[in-house]
Amino acid sequence: MSTWLVPLPQTRRWQMHDQSGAHLTDEGFALLFEFSRGPSFAYDLKTLRIVMVNDAAIAYYGYSREEFLKLDLSEIVDSAFWDAVQLQLSSKPLLFNMDLSHTDSAGRKRQVHTIDRALSIASHEIRAVQVQDLNEIDDLRQAARRQLDAVLNTVLSMMRMRDPFTDRHQFRVAALVTAMLREMGIPSEESTGIVVGATVHDIGKQSVPSEILSFAGRLSPAAMELVRGHSQAGFDLIEAIDAPWPIAQMIVEHHERLDGSGYPHGLRSDATLLGSRVIAVADTAEAMMSHRPYRAALGQEPALAELDAGRGLRYDDEAVTACFTVIRSNDFHFPDGVL
Ligand SMILES: [Fe+2]
Repeated sequence: MSTWLVPLPQTRRWQMHDQSGAHLTDEGFALLFEFSRGPSFAYDLKTLRIVMVNDAAIAYYGYSREEFLKLDLSEIVDSAFWDAVQLQLSSKPLLFNMDLSHTDSAGRKRQVHTIDRALSIASHEIRAVQVQDLNEIDDLRQAARRQLDAVLNTVLSMMRMRDPFTDRHQFRVAALVTAMLREMGIPSEESTGIVVGATVHDIGKQSVPSEILSFAGRLSPAAMELVRGHSQAGFDLIEAIDAPWPIAQMIVEHHERLDGSGYPHGLRSDATLLGSRVIAVADTAEAMMSHRPYRAALGQEPALAELDAGRGLRYDDEAVTACFTVIRSNDFHFPDGVL
């Protein structure tokens, strides 16, 4: 039996432990090094023995390096998931991802996401496993969400100063969307993303000159083109933000219509997100029910009549039904109290 302790540049170290004297190629090392930002280990597919482990895995699982190298994979994988792991391994895939539990040295179950990849090291079938703690992923997601909130709040504050009319419209649409999604039984995680999309769906109006937004008469075709450009402008503005939901896509799609008559791309229903279709319905309802610089509020009944006439043609049928239920109920109130 032989054991190597191989120093790598920077801080990570890999140790290879192999009964037959197999050794790692430089390429294998490079790949493993790439793997080693989080806990990683490698095992021999035939014996399932752990043959390599990095510092992060030693810290994460709580074994010493020597103890770790005496384990086999079945001692790390929670027994409830062992059949599923074996099933994956039976086809010798180049790579597979799994959400499962691993057991650490104290016997605690750790919820992890693993990326298990075949490596070609000498003549051995070695597999390297990159481990991500699912709770830590959740923490990262929450941190990303807080950052997103901060960015969007800043943009919305700027918008409130420049264009309070659109700001109010967005909050009213978001309130209606929230109630519609509840009515439609959409799961909370998906709903949250759609409500965020609704809250900023007209953010691209920042690109439209104020004189046009507040113009009281009929707009020229050129000015109309500028207004219609707001959904693409909003997409361009938000696209670069790393958001956990497809907010930019909802923004660019909120004026698309099921029959392809919308803009900017004339997409049909199956090419758009559910969130975009829900926002489109709430946007239409709120816009018709509200005062505009160029016209008085049209009222609740004409708004609902327009949606009913376009139900299943221009507007998502289920979203229209939810909108009717919400508007006609006595429970729903727009946040500013004006219906
Ligand atoms: Fe819009």
